[in-house]
Amino acid sequence: MADTKDIPSSGEGEIATFQLGGKSYDFPVVIGTEGEKGIDISSLRSRTGYITLDEGFANTGSCQSKITYIDGEKGRLCYRGIPIEVMAENSTFIETAYLIIYGDLPTRRQMSDFSQKVLRNANLHEAMLHFFEGAFPFTAHPMSILSSLLNSLGCYYPNMVTNDREKDLESFDDAAALLLSKVRTIAAMTYRMKNGLPLIYPKKDLGYSQNFLHMMFSEPYHEYYPHDDVTKALDLILLLHSDHEQNCSTSTVRMVASSGANLFASVSAGVCALWGPLHGGANMAVIKMLEEIYRDGDDGTRFIEAAKGGKTRLMGFGHRIYKSYDPRAKILSEAADKVFHVMRKKKDPLLEIAKRLEEKARSDPYFIERNLYPNVDFYSGTILKSIGLPTDMFTVLFAIGRMPGWIAHWREVATKPKSKIIRPRQIYQGEVNKPYIKVRNRDAGDLQDYESDVSKSEGYGAAENASFKA
Ligand code: ACO
Repeated sequence: MADTKDIPSSGEGEIATFQLGGKSYDFPVVIGTEGEKGIDISSLRSRTGYITLDEGFANTGSCQSKITYIDGEKGRLCYRGIPIEVMAENSTFIETAYLIIYGDLPTRRQMSDFSQKVLRNANLHEAMLHFFEGAFPFTAHPMSILSSLLNSLGCYYPNMVTNDREKDLESFDDAAALLLSKVRTIAAMTYRMKNGLPLIYPKKDLGYSQNFLHMMFSEPYHEYYPHDDVTKALDLILLLHSDHEQNCSTSTVRMVASSGANLFASVSAGVCALWGPLHGGANMAVIKMLEEIYRDGDDGTRFIEAAKGGKTRLMGFGHRIYKSYDPRAKILSEAADKVFHVMRKKKDPLLEIAKRLEEKARSDPYFIERNLYPNVDFYSGTILKSIGLPTDMFTVLFAIGRMPGWIAHWREVATKPKSKIIRPRQIYQGEVNKPYIKVRNRDAGDLQDYESDVSKSEGYGAAENASFKA
């Protein structure tokens, strides 16, 4: 339908021409800094009466953003212009968070101030600790607790939740550091509560990831000192999850933010979206799948055949954007070997199965033809498991990692001049002119009463009534 051609119109760049009902309409082409092209159809409906239909938004750009770039064909991912491989090699999660939120790498001074601010916010308001003393049942899913408590943070910091965007933005720096820090404390305390363990407070002399491991695994009578490589692997997992442009949860955060909602409410909605097994929940599903294969004693063939037959999906495989190897999965597959070595699990059966499964899938025409490669979830779960994290905490770890991205996207929406509420349209496919029938007449066969109801109802002409009867 769209005919995109190069028209050098007064130096303004490309124009896309639509042919519709014998008329032709020109729309400007927006070109991104990496050369991506999008047809700006924002005046389509007012000019033609038509809307576009793109279920799943696979062809729809919902915004222009400066945060993250992905080239799915080439398997490239950049945070604020810096390749993920460079960040993974040189940076930490907290430095990456600063970059993603504020747009530039921090100076030494900025880094120190930011880290201090994150550290100072590590404790929860004491009143919030009551949530871990019986308010939630032991059986509660940690993602459910996380989403609830992130939203409830707004109750404890009312100066950051004013319902006035300008005022909310004045406290943005504090709210961002607070969220980054407390999401980790909430996660660790949820784990402690669910396992009937005493809550462990954060310590002032530990880095971000080490503090998390301390709050998870230290005991009042025994300090937990993780191996450096374990702390680094966890930090790397968080860094690799920091942002991924317009995925389901980030788009949710942006949508909620577009209504004027505060940062806490918006990221809490992001957690709910992330929970689903087709998104962040896939890292849990991968481990369940690998364990199932292990129990069956199968080499993975049965699972692959079931996935090809549409009975199940090979979890941790495929991605809406990546049509080649997810660069994050590549980095993690290498990190996994290191962590297993450190944890003295030289041969982890699940990692062995994962590698075998990848090998099989990548030589199978079904997966080749559909460009299905391992995604970030394929290896992150095996690393998290070897560190000692229970499966139901995996998606929570993803949420901790994604927090910088959600915060940055909230800010982008909140600071956009003339920001619009996100409100897509639809093509209605439901019933038309359905008559209202009074409840006493809704049983089948009571036509006489039905007719009298219909004739009394407003807005329905004889023709509709007649066709209904026929
Ligand atoms: N296993 C088997 N077949 C698959 C898989 C898979 N994991 N993923 C896609 N396919 C097949 C589909 O059946 C479909 O085949 P068809 O053309 O014969 O109908 C084709 O590949 C295209 O699949 P879609 O569902 O249209 O692709 P989409 O882009 O909508 O989905 C998604 C992407 C949801 C990630 C999908 O690949 C999937 O379900 N993967 C498993 C879950 C997973 O790992 N999710 C994590 C994603 S990454 C993240 O959120 C961090």
